Amino acid sequence: MTFDRSIKIAPSILSADFANFGGEIRAIEAEGCDWVHVDVMDGHFVPNLTFGPQLCVAIRPHVTTLMDVHLMISPVDPYIDAFAQSGADILTAHLEAGPHIHRTLQAIRAAGCKAGLALNPGSGIDSVADMLDMVDLICVMTVNPGFGGQKFIHGQIDKVRRLRAMIGDRPIHIEIDGGITPETAPLMAAAGADVLVAGSAVFKGGSVETPAPYGDNIRAIRRAAEAATGVMA
Ligand code: DX5
Ligand code: ZN
Repeated sequence: MTFDRSIKIAPSILSADFANFGGEIRAIEAEGCDWVHVDVMDGHFVPNLTFGPQLCVAIRPHVTTLMDVHLMISPVDPYIDAFAQSGADILTAHLEAGPHIHRTLQAIRAAGCKAGLALNPGSGIDSVADMLDMVDLICVMTVNPGFGGQKFIHGQIDKVRRLRAMIGDRPIHIEIDGGITPETAPLMAAAGADVLVAGSAVFKGGSVETPAPYGDNIRAIRRAAEAATGVMA
């Protein structure tokens, strides 16, 4: 995984057909996504329950891009090895998931994965200032985690601007997660984000049988974001 800060679109399979993850992943990759965002939820850290390491094992053969696993679980540490062995490329843990996030990030890298740190809308960036050498990605939540299709929280835009300044030229991705559409994507790209997670805005209108809308939706988000950064493909 070589680092570059070009805009990446990471569809979240939380909005996909739960009866056909393999087909959905093949479809979004064929339609031009850059990463596959996998929303793991434990019904404890967030008020929803999705899937665990076994799902990641099952979908790994279908992911040819990058498996970006978002761990909305607490505790995190007991499950790191299982998710790492499932083939996850990035494991993102929440700052709020427990008292020892530094140890969690160490354990994620020790298990051979890239380490991501997610911040809920209520968490400031000061807490990450002393861990910039521990992370490969910082995920700024623009919804309160647990569900797809929620409304984008505009108050997070300035947080991303300040985070971008804090990161400087370190090889750390800024990922935005929640409520990303062609309307909100440029706001975050202009603020300095480079990875845009989108569930409902990518999967709407399409299916495994008729995947063309997936490509249209991905292109619409990408074009809007790139226009805001002055980079046109
Ligand atoms: C929410 C998840 C997000 C969500 C995005 O807890 O972390 O990844 O699935 O879905 P949309 O793009 O529909 O807000
Ligand atoms: Zn997510």
